[in-house]
Amino acid sequence: MLIAGNWKMFKGPDEAGAFCRALRDADLPDDVDVVVCPPYVSLEAAVQTLAGTEVGVFAQNCHWELEGAFTGEISAPMLHELGVYGTLVGHSERRQWFGETDETVAQRVRTALAQGLHVIACVGESEAEREAGETDAVLRRQVGVLEADENLVIAYEPVWAIGTGKTATPEMAQQAHETIKSVLDLPVLYGGSVKPDNAAELMSQPAVDGALVGGASLDVESFAAICRAASL
Ligand code: PGA
Repeated sequence: MLIAGNWKMFKGPDEAGAFCRALRDADLPDDVDVVVCPPYVSLEAAVQTLAGTEVGVFAQNCHWELEGAFTGEISAPMLHELGVYGTLVGHSERRQWFGETDETVAQRVRTALAQGLHVIACVGESEAEREAGETDAVLRRQVGVLEADENLVIAYEPVWAIGTGKTATPEMAQQAHETIKSVLDLPVLYGGSVKPDNAAELMSQPAVDGALVGGASLDVESFAAICRAASL
């Protein structure tokens, strides 16, 4: 099981340091891999505070070129230099607001993996796509551009469940994860309004290999509770 906390645009370096100090002291299970994904400016504080622990630090995105004229972007070697372990790629907020496409996601994933970063690549259908019966086709298209890799994990995040309090039912998650695994046989995390009180049920599905948690990862106690819910 892997539990990753996606902080999005929350927590500057001071808050990140305080969170990571509290996380170091929290009661985390040994059989669950735990990852936090702070904003770029807080990565260094997180890496330093969590040094010597089992908690991994991931960025929230990573460019496909190693350097160049790409204002506002960050490359894999830069993340490496900071001691960052991996990166999210293709989050639906990147696809929705920042023009990310299946092709740019695939390029970012390829470069990050080639540069030795672990990657959590995010996929998921919108509400309109689910209602039109297109969930399967969308997932097959989004996952189909990626290649299997031992350092790659997929996160299934139905867009209608992100930050809305609406969670996919365990059966919906199981079905979507089976579709994804039929394209690429990789671990698949569920994301979308995961909370301490729904985590255990979602995680009990055989094809659910962990969770990508947004809002509920911003508080140490609720994040640690989700990590414990994922423990066998
Ligand atoms: P949420 O976000 O848990 O706040 O719904 C999940 C995500 O976007 O990764």
